[in-house]
Amino acid sequence: MKLFVDTAIVEDIEELNDYGLIDGVTTNPTLIAKSGGDFKSVIKTICGIVDGPVSAEVAATEFSGMMAEGEHLAKIAENVVIKLPLTLDGLKACRALVSKGHKTNVTLCFTANQALLAAKAGASFISPFVGRLDDINIDGMDLIQDIRQIYDIAGFETQILAASIRTPNHVKGAALAGADAATIPAAVIKSMARHTLTDAGLAAFVQDWKSAGQSIL
Ligand code: E4P
Repeated sequence: MKLFVDTAIVEDIEELNDYGLIDGVTTNPTLIAKSGGDFKSVIKTICGIVDGPVSAEVAATEFSGMMAEGEHLAKIAENVVIKLPLTLDGLKACRALVSKGHKTNVTLCFTANQALLAAKAGASFISPFVGRLDDINIDGMDLIQDIRQIYDIAGFETQILAASIRTPNHVKGAALAGADAATIPAAVIKSMARHTLTDAGLAAFVQDWKSAGQSIL
């Protein structure tokens, strides 16, 4: 499963990219606002850091505006993926942008039928929002499983990008449910590496190595 970082904070992206842990980046208008940077400059900078797909979301909500913005965003860099909302206009724009050779990520997906339509529209990625479903007491991971089953039966090539990931358990659940990728906040990616027994075990090894009085180099 590919791991994308869900942020527009350039320093976090650089750090995780240096660790070799990320395959791409997703942003949304909320994350861009949090970053405080100019949208197009931030996307250009991120695209220069990571080799993989970088999702940049349109702000328009009707077809012609989405087309104009999508085409504009796609010119920023080759690895830009145009992110579109899961509305009828968004699906129409998805089909049209895909026909022009662009990559798309259809976002704000909350049902399997929405995911089915996004695949019919030729989306490169579908983003089901696990955490926001959990917030309203609907199991977000069930949605990932349903989409996986539907896509496999129908032979759709749209990649399932589990989004609105809030915890390491969400990542594990998405992987087990067959998601192709998960987009994850930087802090959650880092916390996936941590375990109290790892820390305790390493501290003991460091101490014992000192007592052994040896060196490797
Ligand atoms: C990514 O594509 C989504 O915009 C993001 O994962 C949403 O996460 P949130 O529900 O925590 O805001």
